Amino acid sequence: MRTQVGIVGAGPAGLLLSHLLHRRGIECVVLELRSRQYCETRIRAGVLEQGTAELLRAIGVGERMAREGLVHHGIVLRFDRRDHRIDLSGLTGRAITVYGQHEVVKDLIAARLAAGGEILFEVAGVEVADVDTPAPRIRFRHAGAHRELRCDFVAGCDGFHGVCRSSIPPRALSTYEHTFPHAWLGVLARVPPPSEELIYASHERGFALQSMRSPELSRLYLQCAPTDELEAWPDDRIWDELRRRFEREGWTLPEGPVLHKGITAMRCFVADPMQYGRLFLVGDAAHIVPPTGAKGLNLAAADVRVLARALDAHYAEGRGDLLERYSAVCLRRVWKVQRFSSWMTSMLHRSAGGPFFDRLRHAELDYVTGSRAASTALAENYVGLPFEDG
Ligand code: FAD
Ligand code: DHB
Repeated sequence: MRTQVGIVGAGPAGLLLSHLLHRRGIECVVLELRSRQYCETRIRAGVLEQGTAELLRAIGVGERMAREGLVHHGIVLRFDRRDHRIDLSGLTGRAITVYGQHEVVKDLIAARLAAGGEILFEVAGVEVADVDTPAPRIRFRHAGAHRELRCDFVAGCDGFHGVCRSSIPPRALSTYEHTFPHAWLGVLARVPPPSEELIYASHERGFALQSMRSPELSRLYLQCAPTDELEAWPDDRIWDELRRRFEREGWTLPEGPVLHKGITAMRCFVADPMQYGRLFLVGDAAHIVPPTGAKGLNLAAADVRVLARALDAHYAEGRGDLLERYSAVCLRRVWKVQRFSSWMTSMLHRSAGGPFFDRLRHAELDYVTGSRAASTALAENYVGLPFEDG
């Protein structure tokens, strides 16, 4: 098999890249470890920055998002049992769209297949070779047969646990890591969201977040210990803890059947550079941010824009300078998003630091909600920093 760009991974990054390349007349093949159904039902992020939503619309995959996505103009920070609204649109002129990551994935897969795009699901044993030569190869197994995909470039869109990053010699890569001593228990429940806007609650018992997927489905998160197992969190305990952390006069949390629950670690990770020879790392394969800023998916989409444009410049104009700058351009945004996500995490989560740090966090919340300048800084990061496409 031969193509121009071999893409490993059919998450948001790989699918979006394949769709952008297709629109620019560049051939690609996507290789995915899991089944189509698994990819389309994996519950993860839900907040799209305005720029991400605009990109999906501009490339013709925004139709269902326009119907079913929920455009939000503000978020609420709840502490001391009171609400403090951050007026995202009033402060920045921009908004966010709440639309599940798996819905984005469904829309992208449907668009790729309708356009005759090639996505091979359930491939195994993916190995990337010769990326430091002009003729990289990807070896894999599919439907019981050993296959090889020859290509000009490899896009490693295979997430944090994928094989692409680990195929780079360690001497060629610096990595930066921090793990927070918290985790999130995420719950999807069939119950109407009690508030129209997202609520980020900071409470003595720990952080809690109320989000949604539709007028009938709530998405809720609770700070828990990274060592907690799901068995420690029966539904009754989840609802009890959520009620306590969201406590506010005149506000009640309705209960409903829990459809899904999972625990996510809170980790920061950056690989630098995001390129080795003709292998480009994209999205979670290159970096992880803690979920408090709702940025993982949006950052993956930002990398994709930069790479698609650079590949287009290579094929259409014979220019290599944008590909050479790919990593530097992406990393500027990555570190700013890392900064914002870590700041939101530290401000909102209970830590073991003791009373001094509890007071500092409280002062931070008080300042952010009381100062227009500080609210604006939060808002402009939350709706998404401007793109620098190199
Ligand atoms: P992924 O979505 O991870 O996609 C990678 C794809 O590559 C997957 O389909 C995988 O099956 C495939 N793959 C892996 N290895 C191989 C291989 N060897 N061969 C072929 N294919 C391979 N972000 C938020 O903003 N808010 C959240 O609430 C949130 N919750 C999250 C919960 C979890 C459990 C996780 C893991 C992440 C969460 N994130 C969240 C982050 C966000 O979902 C990611 O940033 C986003 O999925 C990144 O997209 P991606 O395409 O780079 O990677
Ligand atoms: C959601 C996830 C986040 O990480 C976040 O900060 C806000 C909302 C969500 O899944 O809806």
